[in-house]
Amino acid sequence: MPCRDAAGLPIGSATERIVFRSSATEADHEPKCRYSHTTRMEKDVTSHMPKDVTPLLPFPVRAVKPSRAVARRKPLAVAGLFAGIGGVELGLRKAGHESQVLCEIEPTAQAVLRRRFDGVPLHDDVTTLRSLPKGVELLTGGFPCQDLSQAGKTAGILDGKRSSLVGEVFRLVKKHDVPNVLLENVPFMLKLDSGQAMHVLADAFEKLGYSWAYRVVNSQAFGVPQRRERVIFLASKEIDPREVLLGEEVQEPTPPADPLGKLACGFYWTEGIRGLGWAVDAVPTLKGGSTIGIPSPPAIVLPNGEVVTPDIRDAERMQGFPAGWTAPAATVAKDSCRWKLVGNAVTVDLFHWVGKRLRAPLPAGALLDGRRIKANAGWPSAGWNCGEGRFGTELSTFPCIRSREPLADWLRHPGKPLSLRATNGFLERTTRSSLRFPPRFLELIRQHQRRVSADARG
Ligand SMILES: C[S@@+](CC[C@H](N)C(=O)[O-])C[C@H]1O[C@@H](n2cnc3c(N)ncnc32)[C@H](O)[C@@H]1O
Repeated sequence: MPCRDAAGLPIGSATERIVFRSSATEADHEPKCRYSHTTRMEKDVTSHMPKDVTPLLPFPVRAVKPSRAVARRKPLAVAGLFAGIGGVELGLRKAGHESQVLCEIEPTAQAVLRRRFDGVPLHDDVTTLRSLPKGVELLTGGFPCQDLSQAGKTAGILDGKRSSLVGEVFRLVKKHDVPNVLLENVPFMLKLDSGQAMHVLADAFEKLGYSWAYRVVNSQAFGVPQRRERVIFLASKEIDPREVLLGEEVQEPTPPADPLGKLACGFYWTEGIRGLGWAVDAVPTLKGGSTIGIPSPPAIVLPNGEVVTPDIRDAERMQGFPAGWTAPAATVAKDSCRWKLVGNAVTVDLFHWVGKRLRAPLPAGALLDGRRIKANAGWPSAGWNCGEGRFGTELSTFPCIRSREPLADWLRHPGKPLSLRATNGFLERTTRSSLRFPPRFLELIRQHQRRVSADARG
């Protein structure tokens, strides 16, 4: 797919030099970790790589200039439901929007919200949240995906019965006639009940008079080394949601085929039979749970062959939070609970982008070369209904591309060597697997096994 801007022009005539630049976080004041090959904060993407490595961003990218935006809009007053540790709210806050109320049931997440959103009223259970503060202009939330299925199959989500959490979203939206609603969910939402769940959601918004648009977006686009796709769904009675979500696109980068020894690569050590979660110069999606039943960090094979799991502070940074963001959770539960909170969160930078586009939308123009979405067909990576019916199109999951350091340099905190037990378990699973592993990958894991085994013997 060629890179296109909102006017449908091929991107590449006027070019921007791509550099990796670290984002400014608390962690910038901390010492660089031992994997760093350099202390430079900015560098040409090609300069750090051996000559035979294809750069990850080998194509020219032209940013859509802010001067082409529709018109700047004022910041919005936000109600954050299912707030978790506040990924949506922090991203929106960075764009100038203001949280008026937060709602979150989990005590560990509440401890984080209380500290990080000091002064913002915090309610626990959405089912007992009677009303929103006056003047809320944007309601946000990521309800559990399966819940949409339940709502669609049972009482429906607009009939006033509290059959589901997504039903609670509509109860509050209806009661206050909130003009904008921003939802996030896993891409499985597009496939749930063969796409019927999305029709339930779209029906409900259309009956209430909203235009809507959605898009699958990858966190990697926003300068964090984590592959993480989420559906962002925006419904509005006052703006064209396509101009927020669908106004820009760049081509997804193609990673080099043989990166081991040159770039850090992430994988799920908890898997190895049916999947690997292989990610080049990134980690796979951080998760709130795992196949072994506890939230577990992915592993990273470093360019020098070490196999580590990242420190929780780097995991927080992989979600766009400052290092240490979830530390307050450890006042009410074990420190390990922070992994679940980080794995369930959204990437802050993604919602910073959404927040900026809410204030400076872009005409979606020729990117909207859509086809009608039929009742029994699946849902593509982007879609909308702004009064003329439901349309969809396949857009790149990269609306833009933000530069960063390579993962090995980006990490600020030394990780833990993957334990002997975890390594043994992973290698044992691979013997029962029919997966095709990247070249030299298993050899490097076996070398790691020998090293940690020798360390264990002393
Ligand atoms: C997918 S997570 C949202 C993560 C959040 N966007 C973040 O960045 O951390 C869904 C959240 O909904 C919360 N939740 C589930 N049931 C709830 C309820 N009845 N009332 C309020 N929050 C609830 C969960 O505890 C969880 O933190």
